[in-house]
Amino acid sequence: MNDVVSYVMDGEIAVVTVNNPPVNALSQAVRQGLLDAIRRSADDGSRAVLILCEGRTFIAGADITEFGKPMAEPYLPDLLNEIEASEKLVVAAIHGTALGGGFETALASHYRIAVDSAKVGLPEVKLGLLPGAGGTQRAPRIAGVAASLELILSGAPIPAAKAGQFGLVDKVVPGDLGAAAREYVRELLDAGTPVRRTSEQAVEAVGDDVFDTAAASVAKRARGQTAPHRIIECVRTAMTTPFAEGQKRERELFMESMQDPQSKALQHVFFAEREAAKVVGIDKDTPLRDINSMGVIGGGTMGGGIAMSFANAGIPVTLIEINDEALERGLAIIDSNYAGSVKRGKLSEDKAADCRGRITGATDYAALADVDLVIEAVFEDPELKKEIFAKLDAACKPGAILATNTSYQDVNAIAAATGRPEDVLGMHFFSPAHIMKLLEVVRGDETADDALATVMKLSKKIRKVAVVSGVCYGFIGNRMLQGYFREAQLCLVEGGSPESVDKAMFDWGMAMGPISVADLAGLDVGYKARQALPADERGDPAAYRVPDVLVEMGRLGQKSGKGFYNYDPETRRPSPDPEVQAVIEREAAALGIERREIDAQEVVDRLIFALANEGFRILEEGIAQRPGDIDIVYLYGYGFPAWRGGPMHYVESVGLDKALARIEEFRERFGDENWAPAPLLEKLVAEGRSLKDWADRK
Ligand code: 3HC
Ligand code: NAI
Repeated sequence: MNDVVSYVMDGEIAVVTVNNPPVNALSQAVRQGLLDAIRRSADDGSRAVLILCEGRTFIAGADITEFGKPMAEPYLPDLLNEIEASEKLVVAAIHGTALGGGFETALASHYRIAVDSAKVGLPEVKLGLLPGAGGTQRAPRIAGVAASLELILSGAPIPAAKAGQFGLVDKVVPGDLGAAAREYVRELLDAGTPVRRTSEQAVEAVGDDVFDTAAASVAKRARGQTAPHRIIECVRTAMTTPFAEGQKRERELFMESMQDPQSKALQHVFFAEREAAKVVGIDKDTPLRDINSMGVIGGGTMGGGIAMSFANAGIPVTLIEINDEALERGLAIIDSNYAGSVKRGKLSEDKAADCRGRITGATDYAALADVDLVIEAVFEDPELKKEIFAKLDAACKPGAILATNTSYQDVNAIAAATGRPEDVLGMHFFSPAHIMKLLEVVRGDETADDALATVMKLSKKIRKVAVVSGVCYGFIGNRMLQGYFREAQLCLVEGGSPESVDKAMFDWGMAMGPISVADLAGLDVGYKARQALPADERGDPAAYRVPDVLVEMGRLGQKSGKGFYNYDPETRRPSPDPEVQAVIEREAAALGIERREIDAQEVVDRLIFALANEGFRILEEGIAQRPGDIDIVYLYGYGFPAWRGGPMHYVESVGLDKALARIEEFRERFGDENWAPAPLLEKLVAEGRSLKDWADRK
């Protein structure tokens, strides 16, 4: 047919093969090839059409790189309607992942066969879209309303066997799909099976409660997002109107989603996540080091979770603690975490035992002699860390990668404590480390390319999203957070309450308000860090007086049952405490601050623009490789709403000039120290350029 779709007769079967690496996305050429193929099959003597794919997967969806460009014919819904209307029996043969428009192609085919390792799904919601080529109309006709709502609203792919239970796949086979699919088509032909057009079937009616349940679940798990509501409307339309009308509505709502800034943000996230894995200046074919075993030093909050992440990925772990007692304590926490995962149905008992079995404890560094990687996660004390790295240098074999999980310390200084700084880097996990997806990989001045590339690759294996950061205080995420937290505290003393500040940010989309985050992390952490500094280096007293007073009152946060909020000992539910509000008001008076009304918009702008302003500095200094990397850090490490695209995408979507104007306004009102605009932001606005343009041309 063309370069990406071939057409070969195999007896009476027209075998149509898509070959458009890497994932057989439905580019214009693929759509054209499929259309030409289906038209050719109409009068070439074939009795059936078998659609299958070369390479790692069946069609994985529309070509996302074409989004935002003028649409080119043939349009996918028209193509799929024509496939469905074929008089010849059309069978789709699925391997890999049949996703989005790819799965819609299969649903428009008359029959579907899949290899048992295949997965199918309609993940459009993750891009802020809805299945726009009949998926919302055909799936309910096959699988029913409730199952379709779950499939389309979650966006999660399901295994072939499960799809088989819903009728979304007709036959699941092991082994060689190509042969089994041909065999299946012959069976269907021999049995005289007629074409089966999904659009001609009716949707089994369900009550309003099914839609209400879906809407309630969306309100919780997709708070703030627009696409899920459009999906519910489409599926309801499938039930209440004929196919053609339903498809028209689906098309309208799909086009509306395409224009929605939420979809643009989520598309940006899709590509940013994949881009983040690439390290500028390192060849993708750089030979990697083997990582078959690893060690963790320190079995506390972070060390335990890090050990679990590796054990869960099949890598044996040696956990080193300071003495037997500390080791037992650390291992007991790991045991209880695994028990929790089993209880919540996240892991089977056998799997949990298997993973746990990969973690062994020790108190002697000699146990690390043969490991390929060590991650240090002891107290945040620079001298202790240097001491440990000197010991590791003596204990570990040549070529072992030595990593620190430090949150703030200078990775170069830690590397200098060894005779092999090229093997040293930072691996900054986020708490709880076995759950949070983000991993900041800190590249020291002397870190070897192959060590860095190995860790970036390894991050996928342990199911983390890795972002490279240069060395600076707090790296990308925690460095930016300082301005965000500062403004949260300032809003509090200038006129807010813990609830009003948290609510402003939560309603804007953050997973948790900043005051609640501070309580979760423990107010004593910042307190101790400040106490270690001379008084004139602690920053703006208005930004830390209140939490310091709370710590001195014994209110350390969630861990002591009281912080900015009181916590129910059973449910951990927070409730406001007038005592805290009194502290805020008293401290405001002592600082000479006249309290005023602060609206939610001011809270959001001050916190988010403070965050992004620092992001521009981080970019200019080369600490982050690209704006999208910063966005990924915030999405996966700090509960930033994906549908806003991350702090840098958000500022770009607001308009750099508008963001700068607001920052200038804050500078006028609150002073230079906190609000001097980042030079890169000023420069881009002056030149009328976008951040994307700057990143592309860098
Ligand atoms: N369009 C264009 N490029 C795509 C793509 C798509 N749909 N899906 C993946 N790619 C690209 C990636 O950007 C990446 O490119 P790179 O190597 O240059 O970075 C490459 O393919 C490989 O992708 P991954 O690194 O993600 O490979 P994995 O093997 O880990 O995952 C996958 C494969 C499961 C297919 C995953 O890429 C994926 O989930 N893709 C998106 C699927 C999707 O969302 N489909 C729906 C699209 S919307 C739609 O179909 C609308 C319709 O209803 C009208
Ligand atoms: P923690 O206090 O919970 O655990 C530290 C553990 O290290 C303790 O169990 C202690 O017994 C052990 N330890 C101390 N000295 C040791 C030594 N010489 N040899 C072996 N073990 C020793 O601390 P946490 O929270 O796990 O932090 C560890 C590191 O991770 C710190 O550098 C911290 O900054 C960083 N980090 C912490 C995060 C968090 O949210 N808690 C998030 C990301 C990084």
